[in-house]
Formats: sequence, structure tokens, C-alpha cells
Amino acid sequence: MSITILGIESSCDDTSAAIVRDGYMLSNVIASQDVHRKYGGVVPELASRAHQQNIIPVVDTALKQAGVERDEIDAIAFTRGPGLLGSLLVGTSFAKGFALATGARLIDVNHLHAHILSNFLQEHGKEKQIPRFPFLCLLVSGGHTQIIVMRDYFDMQIIGQTIDDAAGEAFDKCAKVMQLPYPGGPVIDRLAKEGNSNAFSFSKPNIAGLDYSFSGLKTSFLYTLRDKLKEDSQFIENNLSDLCASLQQTIVDILMNKLVKASRQTGINEVAIAGGVAANSGLRNAILAAASHHNWTVHVPEFRFTTDNAAMIAITGYFKYLKGSFTTQDIAPTARHEDIQVIDN
Ligand code: KG4
Ligand code: ZN
Repeated sequence: MSITILGIESSCDDTSAAIVRDGYMLSNVIASQDVHRKYGGVVPELASRAHQQNIIPVVDTALKQAGVERDEIDAIAFTRGPGLLGSLLVGTSFAKGFALATGARLIDVNHLHAHILSNFLQEHGKEKQIPRFPFLCLLVSGGHTQIIVMRDYFDMQIIGQTIDDAAGEAFDKCAKVMQLPYPGGPVIDRLAKEGNSNAFSFSKPNIAGLDYSFSGLKTSFLYTLRDKLKEDSQFIENNLSDLCASLQQTIVDILMNKLVKASRQTGINEVAIAGGVAANSGLRNAILAAASHHNWTVHVPEFRFTTDNAAMIAITGYFKYLKGSFTTQDIAPTARHEDIQVIDN
């Protein structure tokens, strides 16, 4: 008997719906919200309203593209958190209504857990090798930077994390200083391709253990610009690609340094990356290089599964369905990661 899951993602500024059947993605529709661009960041109230406008058409399109009828959905999986509460409420309420109307089971999903499990998404005709347990996952998004040991789909142990800014935040904040549009990560990535990554050097943190810190880098970047701008008011424009390449290289070096350390400490050579910053070409190249250098087996999700998407929510829902892990109509969304229990075996 096949199992069909409808996934819903609405934690930040992308409204997305996806269909996963028996671990295979049949559709993944994402409506991005342009309304935030002119504010240089996500405006929560505008995000909630846009989710409300988008959610029904996005779900309809996902069903149509998959060739699946509403009553074929066995369960609806939705992002419970972490994220913006108003945005999460839209997805959660929609999921509850859908479950009531169709009799589908209801499954709550932790957004971060889903980023990691995006590595297990399969597509017909494009089958790929999936991670074997235990593996290390470097989870790098706009709000989180963590190294996680995955011993099973539901057994995750965070062994390192940022003590201040996330890697995505470092990209976004430095981009803002250079007056680049939000989100800054993809823009820096594109500009970095034409630049010299050795042109400038920025300070790297010196934090014990497997934890990260990015606030010092941000300050170092800011001070470099401030000093150089005194000599040349066009400094940013004249050195934009070199600044982006050097900044990106520094962030990638910081990320890889602790990941290598984590692999040494745990003896685990199976390594995956996930989250929006996993779309970064510098990080993707570094992880592929580490595969041959350190003899790692690496897993890099496709671009469209790195940033926020509902396919990752649906695949996580699928694994929870197999386990019989359902929720009820009284579930409430939560903005905080700490409130969501994932390890449950
Ligand atoms: O996972 P995600 O879509 O949303 C969160 O859950 O936070 O991650 C968004 C983050 C943003 O900070 C964005 O700048 C960053 O991912 N990002 C990138 C790239 N694409 C997205 N950072 C660097 N290079 C990219 N190509
Ligand atoms: Zn995310």
C-alpha cells in the first residue's frame, strides 16, 4: 500500500506545498514573497498575509502537478517551528482544516529536522545514494549553524553550534553593509565567482570545541570597510567581487574547520550538509574537496532542496508516518526551537 503525504512549509517568507509518495517527491511548489525586498529583511506581518494569500493556490498546484487528488492524501505534514509565529500559524491552521475536511492524519514537523532529512528525498528516474547512519550533518541556515550527529532519522545530537550569529546571518549582515539586496547569501555567492578570495583577510574566531561564532567576522568586515572607505569613497564598488570572494572563503573556512574536527572526534566519515547556506557554491566545493582529502562520503542536497521548501517537510512527514508519530487538532505552532522535541526513541 502506498503512502501519500502533503507537506506544508510556511516558517519564514516562502509558502510551499509538496507531495511525497513512498519517499519519492512528486511535486514541490514554492511561492517566494517579493514584498520584503524593499525593507532589506523579512517583515513578519507582511509574511503572514502573503502566506494567507498563497497557501490555497500553492497547495492546488502541488496536487495538480503530482496528479494526486485531495482524498488520496494519507497525512498532511506541516512545519510547527521554529520560525515566525504568524507565518507558522497560517500553515498550521491550514493543515488542521485540511485534516478535518479530508480525514487525513496530521503530522507536525520540526523545520530544522526537515532540512537535515532533505538529504533523503528521492525522485523517480534520479535515484541517488542516501546517507547511512550514523552521519554528521552541517546544518547552515539563516537562523542556525549546527553540527549534528544523526544516529537514526529521529535520533539527533547537536555536538556544535553557533554561540552568536548563524552563517546565513553573517552573509546577510555583511551583504547589507555593502548595500546588496536581501537575502545577501545568494548575491555574495554570485559576485564571489568573479573575485579573488585572497584579496582581503578577515578575523577568524578562536572558540574551543565544536562551537561556532560569526559576530567577530562581521565586526572585522565592518572595520575593514570603514578604514578603506576613508581612503577611497568608492572602495566597495571598486572591490565588490574581491570582498565577496574573501568573505565567502572566510565563512567556508570557519564552517569546514569545525566539521573536520567533528569528523575526527566522532570517527564518522559520512557527512551531509543542509539548509539555505548549503546552496553556497564555495561550501559545496569545499565539501566535495573534503570528500577526497579526508576520505569522506558526502551528501549535498540539490539546490532547490537547500533553501526552505515543503518537499523536506513531506519527506520528514513520511518517516514520521512510518513510525506512527501523529499529532492532534490541539497542536500549536512554536517560534522557538528549544520547545520542539525531536529525539524520541
Ligand atoms: O534555510 P533557509 O532558506 O531559511 C532558514 O531556515 O533560515 O536559509 C536562508 C539563508 C539566508 O541567510 C540566505 O542568505 C542563505 O540561506 N543562502 C545562501 C545562499 N542561498 C541562500 N548563503 C550563501 N550562499 C548561497 N548561495
Ligand atoms: Zn530553513
